[in-house]
Amino acid sequence: MKFFVDTADIAEIKELEEAGLIDGVTTNPTLVSKAGRPMKEIIKDICEVTPGPVSAEVTALEADEMLREGRLLAEIAENVVIKLPLTLDGLKACKHLTDDGFKTNVTLCFSAVQALLAAKAGATYISPFIGRLDDINLDGMGLIADIRRIYDNYDFETEILAASVRTLNHVREAALIGADVATVPPATLKALVKHPLTDKGLDTFLADWKKTGQTIG
Ligand code: E4P
Repeated sequence: MKFFVDTADIAEIKELEEAGLIDGVTTNPTLVSKAGRPMKEIIKDICEVTPGPVSAEVTALEADEMLREGRLLAEIAENVVIKLPLTLDGLKACKHLTDDGFKTNVTLCFSAVQALLAAKAGATYISPFIGRLDDINLDGMGLIADIRRIYDNYDFETEILAASVRTLNHVREAALIGADVATVPPATLKALVKHPLTDKGLDTFLADWKKTGQTIG
């Protein structure tokens, strides 16, 4: 499973990239607004820090305008993935951009049939939102499982990018189901490393080592 980090915060991305923890980055208009800088500048900086795919989202609602914005975003760097909403216009733009050789990420997916349509439109990635479904007492992880089965049934190459990931258990379950990628907020990604027994074990090992009075070299 690949890990993308879900943020537009360049310092966080740099740290995680240097630690070898991420394979790419996803952004959205909300995350860009939090970064408080011009979007093109942010995407350019992110693409300089990571060689992996970097999703940048269009904000237009009509297909023609989405195509124009998508092409402008793709000009920023080779690793830009054009992120489009799961609407009729978004799917139309996805089909055009895919046919033209661009990489696409269809976002705001909340049903298995939406994911089927995105795959048929040639999306490189589909982003089903787990946490936002759980928020309204629906089954976010069930959606990931349904999409995995449908894509496998028809050999679609569209990658399942589990999004709106909030917990370590979301990551674990999405990996068990076989999601291709999880996009995870920086704090959750760092929390994946931690286990209390790891810290406790390390403390004991170091205390016992100190008693020996040895050094390794
Ligand atoms: C996906 O690409 C989105 O940016 C993101 O995962 C949304 O997560 P949220 O529901 O926590 O805002």
